[in-house]
Amino acid sequence: MITLSLDEKERLIAAALQARRWAYAPYSQYAVGAALLTDSGKIYDGANVENAVYSATICAERVAVTKAVSEGERSFRAIAVATVNGGSPCGECRQVLSEFSRQLVVLIVGEDGRMIRETTLADLLPQAFGPADLGKDLS
Ligand code: THU
Repeated sequence: MITLSLDEKERLIAAALQARRWAYAPYSQYAVGAALLTDSGKIYDGANVENAVYSATICAERVAVTKAVSEGERSFRAIAVATVNGGSPCGECRQVLSEFSRQLVVLIVGEDGRMIRETTLADLLPQAFGPADLGKDLS
């Protein structure tokens, strides 16, 4: 089980709140900020970026993980997600995150940083399809 110190949680939540300010959400008005903590202790953040072609929108969590992986990171300990009402990561984001860290700690917070739920990706996406189903051991 992955455990985080209080300081790590606070830093991650602060980063998610900060990133949320950069959300581009003119269609839904639903701003999301995410911050992903790597095994190496770095934080990669992300905000949702919507598009007039709605299906081209990308969620905050996938922005964060894409930024991290494209800079060589593949192993993560936790993600904080900030929304106005403690919204939960969507199914597509759960799947993308699970490619890299099934045991990820997920901190779901409100717009003031108040913790609404503390869970794990394994709980949010049980029995996930993953690399092993394609005969790959990428660990
Ligand atoms: N959104 C996220 O950024 N993350 C999620 O996990 C759920 C939804 C965004 C996508 C869209 O810009 C807005 O929230 C409403 O769906």
